Amino acid sequence: MMPAFQAPAWLVGCGNMAGAMVEGWRGAGLDFAGVTVIRPSGRPVEGVRTVTQYPDEMPNLVMLGFKPQKLDEVAPHLAPLVAAGTVIVSLLAGVEIASLRVRFPDARSIVRSLPNLPVAIGEGVIPLFGDGDAVHEIVELMRPLGMVIATGDESALAGIGAIAGAGPAYVARFAEALAQAGRAHGVTADAMPIALQTMSGSAALMQATGEDGAALSRRVASPGGTTEAGLAVLDRDSALDGLVEETIAAAIRRGHELAATAAVEHRAPLA
Ligand SMILES: NC(=O)c1ccc[n+]([C@@H]2O[C@H](COP(=O)([O-])OP(=O)(O)OC[C@H]3O[C@@H](n4cnc5c(N)ncnc54)[C@H](OP(=O)(O)O)[C@@H]3O)[C@@H](O)[C@H]2O)c1
Repeated sequence: MMPAFQAPAWLVGCGNMAGAMVEGWRGAGLDFAGVTVIRPSGRPVEGVRTVTQYPDEMPNLVMLGFKPQKLDEVAPHLAPLVAAGTVIVSLLAGVEIASLRVRFPDARSIVRSLPNLPVAIGEGVIPLFGDGDAVHEIVELMRPLGMVIATGDESALAGIGAIAGAGPAYVARFAEALAQAGRAHGVTADAMPIALQTMSGSAALMQATGEDGAALSRRVASPGGTTEAGLAVLDRDSALDGLVEETIAAAIRRGHELAATAAVEHRAPLA
């Protein structure tokens, strides 16, 4: 059955990420009646009522889709409009439930999510963690957007967010690097479509067969052959593993810094 928004539903901020989610929901045929986008620019969002001021109604659902740095600009105005029946869904990377809860003490439930941009085509990864009793409702709402993972451990959210939320940026860079290397070796106009089809085809094959990376690599690389020569470079001194590990660790570290900032910024006015 098609999920529905618990109207009135407010999307507070609708840039890259919330906009991609709207695209995904639209593609799945969800009804946006009773949904309002609130954003300072008032830039229209196709098929969704878009305004610059909070409507005069009590929201059942409020999705926070602005940057974490804007939290203390938004919360003082929004919190008085959040009632005991309101579920908050926060997309704010690195801002923990505890930091949100002190800012929105009356909310029925607060659910954090760190989706990734392929939600726009229903192919996202959508990790969720929440307090209160609304997590299952939000799981259903997110289902048309891709693979939903409800976790009982908030710290797991940071890890999943670091590989899936930020992951499309890393995958996009790998695709660019593959295409660029192809061009350097005479692959001209079609280098990028070839790189993309190779990546999506390989991922689809691994999903279909359940094979792990090592097994697929072994099937491609014959002993003493060309692929094996390439893999020897990727694996030299664990070059690829080390680089990816360092990349993810940097993102997680930054998430901790943002979480600490959100916690301190809240405590400061109380001191
Ligand atoms: N992009 C990703 O892949 C990704 C992944 C995981 C999580 N996230 C999280 O998603 C959130 C949004 O990121 P984004 O990349 O979508 O940012 P973005 O494209 O810059 O969009 C930010 C949105 O916030 C709105 N906004 C700014 N100030 C506001 C205010 N005072 N009140 C209400 N809305 C306000 C902006 O409105 P105008 O357009 O009208 O200026 C815009 O619609 C962030 O918290 C980020 O941590 C993003």
